[in-house]
Parts: sequence; structure tokens; C-alpha cells
Amino acid sequence: MKTIDRIFEIKKELGEDLLILAHHYQNDDIISTADFVGDSLKLAQYAQKNKRAKYIVFCGVYFMSETADILTEDYQRVLQPAITAGCPMADMADMKQAERAWEIITEELGCDIVPITYVNSKAEVKAFCGNRGGTTVTSGNAARVVDWGLKQNKVILFLPDRNLGRNTAYDLGIPLECMAEYDPRLEKLEYSCKKEDVRIVLWKGHCHVHHNITVKQIEDVRRIHPDAEIIVHPECRFEITRAADGKGSTEYLIDRVKNGKAGSKWVVGTEHNLVKRLKDTYTDKEVYILDTSSVCTNMNKTDAENLLETLEDILKGNFEKQVVVDKTIAQGALRSLETMLSLV
Ligand code: 13P
Ligand code: SF4
Repeated sequence: MKTIDRIFEIKKELGEDLLILAHHYQNDDIISTADFVGDSLKLAQYAQKNKRAKYIVFCGVYFMSETADILTEDYQRVLQPAITAGCPMADMADMKQAERAWEIITEELGCDIVPITYVNSKAEVKAFCGNRGGTTVTSGNAARVVDWGLKQNKVILFLPDRNLGRNTAYDLGIPLECMAEYDPRLEKLEYSCKKEDVRIVLWKGHCHVHHNITVKQIEDVRRIHPDAEIIVHPECRFEITRAADGKGSTEYLIDRVKNGKAGSKWVVGTEHNLVKRLKDTYTDKEVYILDTSSVCTNMNKTDAENLLETLEDILKGNFEKQVVVDKTIAQGALRSLETMLSLV
């Protein structure tokens, strides 16, 4: 029997005990078997709402499975088919580094801090934020959450994605010179304004898949397709988001193409699986990828074979691929996630 057919057979057998969640960057085989596909925000909300499934199989990367484990009940197990699929950006910040940054920023700026972490982060970093009155943020709610942070009259520590922090704060009216940067490896805070004018400290972390997109690529595309709309993910560098025609979460990118007029042209700066799917789905439009090297190797570790293996394991009562967040860390992380979910 074909792998995909067996997956559907097990899905039928497990019924509502099983929930397969997939991020938009997963390949077509995985998307075809998923019960729900979404961006990080929608996946977190969906996982939190579902109280029926005993087994939640998360086709994505580790921070997403951790988030699902934190938001679900104790009787629900979260399993990840490609258990080694992490996110290099999430690995650019840990709790120790965050604590050190807190000391340095407080000492140098003499200010109160509200920490905001992108959901693309370790559970311990989410706990660090939750335990200090902070929250999490996704690319789908960044403006609302950062605005909430700015209204606290404290300096925001935004981690680990410098680009998302800068792009969002700038849109909310924070001048670039009022944004400091913190390098966790050098333990160094840098800023060019007066220290009392710093509004946000950006952690020097990034996603290589989006960070590597260049302005030259946008200029080239404008020459070749002058009538195309260029839309990018906000993990791209500041210059890229300014040169593009729009930016937003994976959900936003999908909506823009979906709602575009027949015959319209789109150039999309994000992971190739999603762009390929947009091209194959919206055949009445022209869809191109901005940078053909935009491949997230971690998102691509999940395939039909390891998904099937996970499902067969469930039938055998083998939960080796379960993602379990330590209880104490989960408590703090839940606090930060709940604050975010209450804001959207
Ligand atoms: P979204 O939340 O926009 O889906 O992005 C997740 C991600 O990992 C992007 O690199
Ligand atoms: Fe992490 Fe970037 Fe991959 Fe998203 S695309 S999971 S941010 S490495």
C-alpha cells in the first residue's frame, strides 16, 4: 500500500483522537494529509481550542510543537514526525543569554523593560518573558503586540528576530535611531541616540532563509516583471520590506495572492514550498519566488514516511517522538502565550 494511502487509513482508524497540524512551509504530501494548515498564530490558536484529540501530530519545527504542548491539556500528546527539525533562529537566544541581556540593558539604560519574544523561540525564552510581565508575538499579530509593549512606557526587549522587531516598530512610528541592538555573543548593547530615547532593544538574531534575500534581487525582479507586486515575509531585512510592495505572515502572503485579480503577477519572498503551492493553486495568476534559495531545511525534514512512522508508532503505543516541555518552564511560557492570545 502507498504511504499516503496508509496515512489516510490510520487517520480513519484514529478518528477524532488524532489531529494533524501542518505549517504552510510543509511539502504538498504533508499538506494533503493535514486536518489544519496555518501560520504560527493560527496553529497555536487551533491547538489550544482542540480538546478532543489525544494525539496531535505537528508537522513543523520544534518551537511550534513546544507551543502546542504548552497550550494543550495534560491528556493530549504532541508528537513531531521529524523530531530533529528545529529553527536556527530560535536557537539564537536562550534563557541565560536573556537574563544577561536584562542585567546589561537595565544597568546601561537604567530603565524598566518589557520583554517580547517571537514565537520562533525556545520555551525557556517564552518563560523568561512570561515571568517578567512580557509576552510572545507572531508575524501575524506583531503590530498589535508591539503596540501593546510600547504603551507600557518601558523599553521593549525584542528577541530573537531583529528584522521582525525593527520592521514592526518602524511601522508604529519608532525612528530607527531610537532602536538599540543587543549582541548576545559579545554581550554588547549598541545605540546611537541618547539613552533615554531608546524605545526598543533588538536582539541580533535572524532567519537565514529570509535574511539572505537582497535588494538587488528586488531590483532585478522589478526590471523583469515591472507590473508584479512583490510581497515578503517580515523576517526579511528592513531594506527588503521597504523595497517590497507588502509584507506579512505566511497567511497574509496567501491572502494577497488568493485575492489578487486574475492575470495579476506576484513575486513572493518566502519559503519555496509555500510559493510553489501558491503557483500551483492560483493558476489564473502568475506567481514567482523572489529568491530560489529560500529553502528551510528544517521545515523540509518532515515527509510522508516519517509522518506514517509516527502514526504507526501511535497505534503501537510508542511515543518516542513526543515533545514534552518541562512543567516549570511551561508555566512561565503559558503566561506569555496567554497574554499574546488575549491581545488578538
Ligand atoms: P508565520 O508565522 O508567518 O507562518 O512564520 C513562521 C516562520 O517560521 C516563518 O519563517
Ligand atoms: Fe526558522 Fe526561518 Fe525555518 Fe521559519 S523559515 S522555521 S524562522 S529557519
